[in-house]
Order: sequence, then structure tokens, then C-alpha cells
Amino acid sequence: MKIYVFGVRGDEEAPLKKWASENPDVSIDYTTDILTSETADNAKGFDGVCSVQREPYSREALKKLHDFGISKLSVRNVGTDGFDYKDLNDFSFTLTNVPVYSPNAIAEHASFLVGRLLRRVPEFDKKFENGNFKWAPTIGTEISGKTVGVIGTGHIGSVFARIMQFGYGAKVIAYDIDPNPALENLGIYVDSLDELLEQADIISLHTPLEPQDYHMIDADAISKMKQGSYIINCARGGLVDSQALIDGLDSGKIAGAGLDVLDNENGIFQKDFGSIDAVPNEKFKNLAKRDNVIITPHTAFYTKKAVHNMVYEAMDTQKALLSGEITKNIVDTKEFAKTV
Ligand code: COI
Repeated sequence: MKIYVFGVRGDEEAPLKKWASENPDVSIDYTTDILTSETADNAKGFDGVCSVQREPYSREALKKLHDFGISKLSVRNVGTDGFDYKDLNDFSFTLTNVPVYSPNAIAEHASFLVGRLLRRVPEFDKKFENGNFKWAPTIGTEISGKTVGVIGTGHIGSVFARIMQFGYGAKVIAYDIDPNPALENLGIYVDSLDELLEQADIISLHTPLEPQDYHMIDADAISKMKQGSYIINCARGGLVDSQALIDGLDSGKIAGAGLDVLDNENGIFQKDFGSIDAVPNEKFKNLAKRDNVIITPHTAFYTKKAVHNMVYEAMDTQKALLSGEITKNIVDTKEFAKTV
């Protein structure tokens, strides 16, 4: 059995080689390049493919794999919004993802963004760099006693809710079209998204990007929020309309934002521009230059534990698929994914 692995980063090489040594019946080859219509040629002669989302997958790349007789594709991440499901269905692909690799990685990161925003860390960092060690006027706000609204309560959202409630003593409220039975006893669910938007001081997003949720946080949603609320997005950039966020920050309706993902992150994250001014995106620059906005380049997932689990789980799943075993982690490509 032969598996070709695309987009292998330096930090993935060790777990991938370890997996290969533990699975001598599988022969693997890999590239640092992501799967594109050009690099797809590398997979000729292989039985299956393992990849990771960094940019949208092109129809041409999938067609090439199909023409090489490949129909099994395992991604090493949770989100599947990089695929057009029609392409996958047209070329009869079975797609698997890694629905759970380390919910704590993302939930902890989201909680740090909340803490760094409320204690005005970017402003203190700037003062510090200039040798200014005065407290005033950079006074902070405590999370304790604040109402934290969690949108999406799957694996990640539920860990985040617990951190906020039991770790920081916040009042947590949550909204989910499909409430998580494990959280029902906490009594945190509200009945509608509007209710959450109206009540929360801090709103954190933990949902996948389904087509109907594109720009879930737009100007209308922001108008329903409390004056001076905070937005945290460690889920998918497309959930928040960056222009509406900029307008909300300008008006003061939004007091700050912690963003690990952005609706225009493709072509920006994973690149080195040398300076913020060189980034070819005005909305990005506008957000990045604010003291009350913290941007991290889609790094919430990026821990040793998560990376190890992503590689192992995806490779195990691809091997099982190719062995004809009925495997977990199969993405329902008839409907948009409900995985986070
Ligand atoms: C995911 O798991 O979907 C992520 O957002 C992480 C990344 C490697 C794409």
C-alpha cells in the first residue's frame, strides 16, 4: 500500500517518519508542497493521499488524482471548507478528516486572546519596549463576572466554555443549533443567536464554516451586541465580516478583537512579508495596526500534541480506508461538514 503525503511541514516530519517506521507495510513518500494541480503529479502510482488545509483545493488537482485512480483522501485537520464538495462527489472521493486532535490547543489559545485583550497586553508590550513601566492609563478589565457568549459548543467550544466558567469565573452563555448533551447540566444555553449577541460582553466563535454561516458576524449582528463587547474568532475567518468588524471597532461598539483566523487570510498567513506595511491587504493592515486587535496567524491549533495527533490520526485513517476497513472520520460530503 502506498500513501503520498502533501504539505508536510518541518514539524510534521518527525511524527510522520515515526508513523512510517511503525507501519512498515505502508510505503510513503511526501513533499513540503501543498496539493495543487501541478504537485498532484507526485501522487501518480500511489493508492491514497494525505493532505492538510492551507489554501482551497482546486478541482484540477482533484481531477488529476482521480485520473491517477486515487479516490481516498485524508486531511490532517478538522475543517473541510477548503473543498468544493461537488468536486469531491464528481470524482467519487472518500474524504476523511481529524475531527478531534486537541480541543484544548484551540480553546486555550482563545482564552489567552481574551486575557491578552482585557489586560491590554499589546499596549503594555509597546510601553515596555520604550522603557515605560508605568501602570496608567493602561488599566485592565477582569474576565471574572463578565458574560462570555460561546457560539458553537462542540469539542472546542465546550472546553472553552469550561475554561471561562470554572477557570475564570465568568458567566457563560452558549448558543448551538445542536446543543451538546455534555453541557446541558450547566444551564448555559440561550434560545437564539440574537439573545447571545445581546447579552454577552465577550463573544467567542467555535463553529465550522457552513455556507449559511458565512459572515455570521456582520454589521447587523454587531448592531445587536452590547456597547464595548469583544469578539474572539479561532474558528474560521469567513464567520466574521472584516469590514463590519473594522466599522464596529471605529464606532467603539466593539472594544477589541482576538483573531486567529480572518476572512481574507489566504495568501497572507504562512508567508513572510517582512513588515505589516508590505501585506497586500488593506483590511488586514487596518486590523493589524490596532492596539485593541490581536491577530495570530491561524496558530491556535499549533501545539506539539495537536500536530502529532493530526499526523497519526490522518495516516491511520488513510491506511484503514485503503485496507477496506470501515473507518471513522469519514466526512459526509453530501451535506456541508458539521465537524468542529
Ligand atoms: C483545522 O484543523 O481545520 C485548522 O484550522 C488547522 C489548520 C492546520 C488548517
